[in-house]
Amino acid sequence: MASAPDLLRCRADFPSLERRLGSHPLAYLDGPAGTQVPRQVIDAIAGYYRTCNANTHGQFVTTMETDLLIGETREAVAAFLGAGSGREISFGQSMTTLAFSLSRAFAREFGPGDEVVITELDHEANRGPWLTLRERDVVVREVRLRPDGRLDPEDLERKITGKTRLVAIGWSSNALGTVNDVALARRLSHAVGAWLLVDAVHYAPHFPIDVGRLDADFLLCSAYKFYGPHVGLLYARPGLLERLQVDRLRTQESTAPDRIETGTLNHAALAGVKAAVEYVASWGEGTALRDRVRSAMDRIGAQEHALARFYFDEVGRIAGVRRWGPDFESGERAPTVSITIDGVTAASAARRLGETGVLVWDGDFYAARPVEVLGLAEKGGLLRTGISMYNTREEIERLLAGVTGVAAGR
Ligand SMILES: Cc1ncc(COP(=O)(O)O)c(C=O)c1O
Repeated sequence: MASAPDLLRCRADFPSLERRLGSHPLAYLDGPAGTQVPRQVIDAIAGYYRTCNANTHGQFVTTMETDLLIGETREAVAAFLGAGSGREISFGQSMTTLAFSLSRAFAREFGPGDEVVITELDHEANRGPWLTLRERDVVVREVRLRPDGRLDPEDLERKITGKTRLVAIGWSSNALGTVNDVALARRLSHAVGAWLLVDAVHYAPHFPIDVGRLDADFLLCSAYKFYGPHVGLLYARPGLLERLQVDRLRTQESTAPDRIETGTLNHAALAGVKAAVEYVASWGEGTALRDRVRSAMDRIGAQEHALARFYFDEVGRIAGVRRWGPDFESGERAPTVSITIDGVTAASAARRLGETGVLVWDGDFYAARPVEVLGLAEKGGLLRTGISMYNTREEIERLLAGVTGVAAGR
């Protein structure tokens, strides 16, 4: 396998990396909010409009090619997630939209006396849709977030009971980088016959996923977090979508994966999703797409982790900086690092850094609950740095110099 500097050749594929702000090249450290997109994905989207823009299930060439493309995109995403077949993959506008569709179906399935378990660490997209089930007198329980940025495993065990119908847990936190013990959630939910739904939006860009091995009932992620366009992705265990009363038109197919897909999909974006999976896979080895995805994700993850760890260690030496979430020794970490700086709000720090072309996010990133629980909501939240496959040590050094200046009040 080639060494890490070879992976950085990917930078030549991302046109937006050439952009400058005055004299400053842009350092995109905002990947958890959406990564940049390589030329291969941009070309696939434009190519769809140029050559086969049509609706589905017709009798002429462009519609037939569109059907083929959608099927191939499902297969590519199945390879990305380790699903058994493309028929286990549905598309939607976003992860949040798909989660709300599922929640309306769950509302028809669950009732008074049933319980759902969510967590205090999750993004609102993996909380809000399930909290609406309270309107159906479903009890929604929240697993406690500890001050160290990890979920309390004993609380998880306590809250999953014989009444639990669904456990909805994030695989990795987009705010703190914590990687959760989803295998434990699976064991506990299995033991009581509850469904396990995993939000893999923040996990998918950084780790290989094997949904079959995880044995999740539902897994959601979003292609724009791994070099693709804005499309939400849903894996559903075979047979489960057919069992659910999802919102659908009678003209719509009644079987998975189309069953939960309302209206016409964004076909051009789906061409981009397929190209994004193939792009990631192009950095791996093997013959089958699945093998290439896995080895590429191992390689991308290793490079990102080395850089994130460097930032985590160095930023911790700056006076007035506090790092949030587990350390890298724990192994329970995505390459996403959030800090606070004494006496400086995250927004003003992000603005200062942004003026020098260093792009980092501030606030709660829709992970409002963990930010509240950690007592940071009134203080303006966190300053978040996310590492993607195209980020360099030089960019992190610019960020560190910027944070040093902000913390010193310069
Ligand atoms: C962990 C996590 N879950 C869910 C979402 C929502 O995804 P989408 O924007 O596709 O609705 C995000 C978006 O940032 C996220 O980071």
